[in-house]
Amino acid sequence: MSMSLDSHIEKVLWTQDQILDRVAQIASQITLDFKAAPDPPLFVGVATGAFLFLADLVKKVQLPLSVDLVRAQSYGSGTLSNGAPSISLDLKLDVKGKHVILVEDIVDTGCTLSCLIEHLEAKGVSSVSICAFLDKPTRRKVHIKLVGDGKFYKGFECPDYFVVGYGMDFAELYRNLPYIGVLKSEFYK
Ligand code: IMP
Repeated sequence: MSMSLDSHIEKVLWTQDQILDRVAQIASQITLDFKAAPDPPLFVGVATGAFLFLADLVKKVQLPLSVDLVRAQSYGSGTLSNGAPSISLDLKLDVKGKHVILVEDIVDTGCTLSCLIEHLEAKGVSSVSICAFLDKPTRRKVHIKLVGDGKFYKGFECPDYFVVGYGMDFAELYRNLPYIGVLKSEFYK
């Protein structure tokens, strides 16, 4: 395998500059929407894919806030879901009564987010909003039901490609790409 990262990429869908501009816009919107809330919102990143988006996003939100992580296992090392996800790393913080913003890299079938929302609801959160960097609405299998007065924030609508970069992997590689791209076919193995 060649070690030059960029040479694995067939095409770039969003550049680093486009990503950071969009993240700043979403952060401003969240700042506006939550500035009158009585308590600081809790940003819950879905590991591992959301780690870069979560970091860039919270740096731009001009409010006191808390951060936690959760992990839901649903993908093997390929590009197809292996069915209903399960929670393999739970939250550290108590979320009862909190306004949670679930931060996800990409919504595909919606199964992962639905499972996480149900999990948070069972813990007694006041609201759940979704902040997904990418959305593939054409692939949705389940309707995503927000909790309370939760909102749905998204970065971009993604065409039906398996994408990598900005936290997203193929077989645990390419998360460190600062842009979003599609791999050359020989690397999807
Ligand atoms: P869902 O449960 O089908 O909505 O899948 C959500 C998870 O699948 C995301 O958090 C990603 O980890 C993974 N995923 C879905 N599509 C892609 C993609 O195009 N590239 C990388 N990971 C993806």
